[in-house]
Amino acid sequence: MKALCIIGSPNNNGSTAYIVDKIIEGMKECGIDSRRYCLGKQKINYCLGCKKCYKEGICVQKDDMDEIIENYKSSDIIIIGTPDYWGDVTGQLKVFFDRCTPYANTNNNRINMKKKRYGISISVREGKTERENIVILNSIEHYFGHMEILPIGSISVTQTSTIDDLKKNHQKEIQDAYELGKNIIKLINEKKKD
Ligand SMILES: Cc1cc2nc3c(=O)[nH]c(=O)nc-3n(C[C@H](O)[C@H](O)[C@H](O)COP(=O)(O)O)c2cc1C
Repeated sequence: MKALCIIGSPNNNGSTAYIVDKIIEGMKECGIDSRRYCLGKQKINYCLGCKKCYKEGICVQKDDMDEIIENYKSSDIIIIGTPDYWGDVTGQLKVFFDRCTPYANTNNNRINMKKKRYGISISVREGKTERENIVILNSIEHYFGHMEILPIGSISVTQTSTIDDLKKNHQKEIQDAYELGKNIIKLINEKKKD
């Protein structure tokens, strides 16, 4: 099995990346290879809204999305983490979602990437309550729905502005992320029985 891990933050070594890396560490223990992308380090243009992908099933633009999609195609597990920006996913992650339109089930001429895929969503925020994280996790799961990725888990971290906050106050969530990675095959097998 293979996992594609998307960090929606501009920070390659921030709190969101740290949680995603703990899941990767757990998955490695059970032999799952991961490919990790920090969207802030990728060159991904905005969707042009030209809708050519509605007719041809591919995007007219050539940028770092091509490599990510190649890895998407061969992955069984899709992990998406984002910090809360203004109560929502980051702009980088939203652009990534938009650029997946050629492959979404809303596109009649999509390239059908038939493989069954399983998804995990992560939201990290500075504020106290879960409220905004719930909106964000729903937004990632909305993307999963149109990509026909079956959700198998999520992680919500609050009161985290920096990686130091995360390490100081959220050892439980860090451990949960590692365990989620380690138990991922079990979670997939449970989902298959649904
Ligand atoms: C532009 C911007 C907008 C933000 N908006 C919110 C917000 O609406 N609510 C919140 O709780 N935290 C907000 N934050 C804080 C981040 O969610 C928080 O610092 C997060 O831990 C950063 O994750 P990272 O280390 O992975 O980049 C915002 C941060 C930035 C830079």
